Amino acid sequence: MKREQWGSRAGFILAAVGSAIGLGNIWRFPYMAYENGGGAFFIPYLFAMLTAGIPFMLMEFSLGHKLRGAAPRTFSKIGVKLEWLGWFQVFIAAIIAVYYVAVIGWAISYFSYSFTQSWGSDTNGFFFSEYLKLGENSPTKLGSLQLHIAIPMVLAWGITFAAIFGGVKGGIERANKILMPLLFIMVMGLITRIVFLPGALDGLNYLFQPDFSKIMDAKVWSAAYGQIFFTLSVGFAIMIAYSSYLPEKSDINNNAFMTVLINCGFSITAGVLIFGVLGYMAQEQAKPITEVVSAGVGLAFVTIPAAINLLPAPYILGPLFFLALVVAGLSSHISIIEAVTSALIDKMNWSRKKAASIVCGVGFIVSLAFATNGGLLLLDLIDYFINNVALLTSCLIELLVIGWLFKAADVRSYANNISEFCVGKWFEICIRFLSPIMLAVILSTNLINTFK
Ligand code: PHE
Ligand code: NA
Repeated sequence: MKREQWGSRAGFILAAVGSAIGLGNIWRFPYMAYENGGGAFFIPYLFAMLTAGIPFMLMEFSLGHKLRGAAPRTFSKIGVKLEWLGWFQVFIAAIIAVYYVAVIGWAISYFSYSFTQSWGSDTNGFFFSEYLKLGENSPTKLGSLQLHIAIPMVLAWGITFAAIFGGVKGGIERANKILMPLLFIMVMGLITRIVFLPGALDGLNYLFQPDFSKIMDAKVWSAAYGQIFFTLSVGFAIMIAYSSYLPEKSDINNNAFMTVLINCGFSITAGVLIFGVLGYMAQEQAKPITEVVSAGVGLAFVTIPAAINLLPAPYILGPLFFLALVVAGLSSHISIIEAVTSALIDKMNWSRKKAASIVCGVGFIVSLAFATNGGLLLLDLIDYFINNVALLTSCLIELLVIGWLFKAADVRSYANNISEFCVGKWFEICIRFLSPIMLAVILSTNLINTFK
């Protein structure tokens, strides 16, 4: 059977960008930057983007385009003994899929609450005790399914399933052609209102004010690299699967640069949005901004709702924010599920419809663990392990395999042959030496810190 293909170049880029831009850009990046030296974080971040992010993306696009398989098949074509690397990546993707969808579900709930701000004034108590049901009367256990958390997850799975079931062009591409423009419009709308609020510029000052003393800190570099791999969705079988549907004539180099630059540009935009809101909130509450910043789950579901309470026209800006979160999350979730589905289609010779049904069905059932009141605990644990260990390990192995076994030079000349502009020898230097060394150092520091 002929492999499916994207309908257009824009379709592919929107899908790749849709995968890259996700929850991580909105709730992870702004805080990471703030925490790790503010403006000075951009130095390690841009360094990691240029020397690891772009070469890695280019490498995965070339592999998918040339070898035309999901990750397991692609790696097995590089070396018969390497198929496990693809499955390892698919496995990581599957794990991310089941907790990522839980957060999308929460965002759907909060979207519905945001019209009337039904979270009230104690947004912390609301999120943890009333929504997640954590607290004295409800001991942390995995057995107690919470329907109000599970139902929005059904919705998220339904959309993902429809996109995957519909195929590369008729489902995934079509979904991203709706979701991504919608996301950009919503974020632009939000930003134009937010930056004019009193205090917003103070928030931006905090985000961009460089603390150069942090540049020599290894933790900052580790954060920058971790963020780059997570944010670009590379190293988890996703971009390989997506690029395996590229038409013969495709400008790999250009596509890779575009995807990375659009994603990182979006992150900075989201940083402006979040810190604009935080600056406004700090001013309204007459607190220093350091007391209002928070990260991850707390940022999106505790701090932002509290800020929405203070905004003008909260019934417009609130729904816009949460819908943007949902949309960004869905386009990433679709890509994660496609990574798993495409691997099974390749391996088992299943039809897309069968594979999609099985993957989404099983995924849905497993993800229900996160709709219990033990969900958050489980999520934090897995998220920590994925970001600090699994992801970096997978990327490091992939770099070593491609850099040293498959020959990075071949990847470069392959990509250069079909692309309009050429990348230079720096590509090999990054893939074979610079990135693996950086990753090995960061990974070992993380492992030492984890088990200490
Ligand atoms: N890149 C997405 C983000 O920034 C997350 C993601 C991770 C997507 C892993 C797919 C796979 O949120
Ligand atoms: Na991202």
